[in-house]
Amino acid sequence: MNIHKLDKYAKSLIKEAARRIKSSFATELIIESKSEANDLVTNIDKETEQFFIRHIKQDFPDHRIFGEEGFGDSLQDLKGFVWMLDPIDGTMNFIHQKKNFAISLGIYKDGVGILGYIYNVMDDDLISASLGEGAFFNDIRIPEVKQAIVEQSIIGINASWVVPNKYIEHEGMGKLLQTVRGTRSYGSAAIEISYVVTGKLDAYISMRLSPWDIAGGMVIAKEVGAIVTNLSNEPINLLQQNTFIISKPGLHKELITNYIRLK
Ligand code: IPD
Ligand code: CA
Ligand code: CA
Ligand code: CA
Repeated sequence: MNIHKLDKYAKSLIKEAARRIKSSFATELIIESKSEANDLVTNIDKETEQFFIRHIKQDFPDHRIFGEEGFGDSLQDLKGFVWMLDPIDGTMNFIHQKKNFAISLGIYKDGVGILGYIYNVMDDDLISASLGEGAFFNDIRIPEVKQAIVEQSIIGINASWVVPNKYIEHEGMGKLLQTVRGTRSYGSAAIEISYVVTGKLDAYISMRLSPWDIAGGMVIAKEVGAIVTNLSNEPINLLQQNTFIISKPGLHKELITNYIRLK
């Protein structure tokens, strides 16, 4: 399999999927709840995932697809080529705000990330990376991320951190909020990851993300020197949900050691 050809193919699918998502604004959305009332899915999330699967299965019949909406394969291992797809990351934004949502895609071969994409649909910004060949913002090479210190950092977190939770000691989080320069919350893990790899955020932390939220971003992170682990400072397992941090180097160690104390 020629990686450059696969890269071109994946990019053209992403662009076409985005065009279809945008054109759906002219039609009425069908909105449903999944695991709880605010866990939303629309007909466009489903149709977009099915669009990818239709093409990938036709053109690469031996590749497997692990997608959020469940139309692909269920995975017990990461053998061979696996496409990890979130057709719309930030569904709530898609429904309510019509912006700040992304297509997130990672292509893995035998568990190694070889291609990664985060496409901010409404900004028309594609962040992409290919293993060993660097990462790109549209067609511009993204430089290595710089070191950062906590006092000068802007960190992506969401409001669920401000109430007690089962993962993290509350006082560590409080101390972090008092120390950082600022926090931001964009409502799309993929977009927040894309902001860390392009230096707009210094870190992004989440208590629970799924493989399709982060698989593409992890390939990109590696190419720019951003550090990705779970909150116990262990590697991410792409067959399950994980706690998650992506951060500039230096800051990653400081956050894990001094602030994000696990229970
Ligand atoms: C969600 C978004 C959100 C994050 C959630 C994800 P979805 O993905 O990335 O920012 O906080 O954990 O599930 O459901 O919109 O694809
Ligand atoms: Ca969802
Ligand atoms: Ca998601
Ligand atoms: Ca989604």
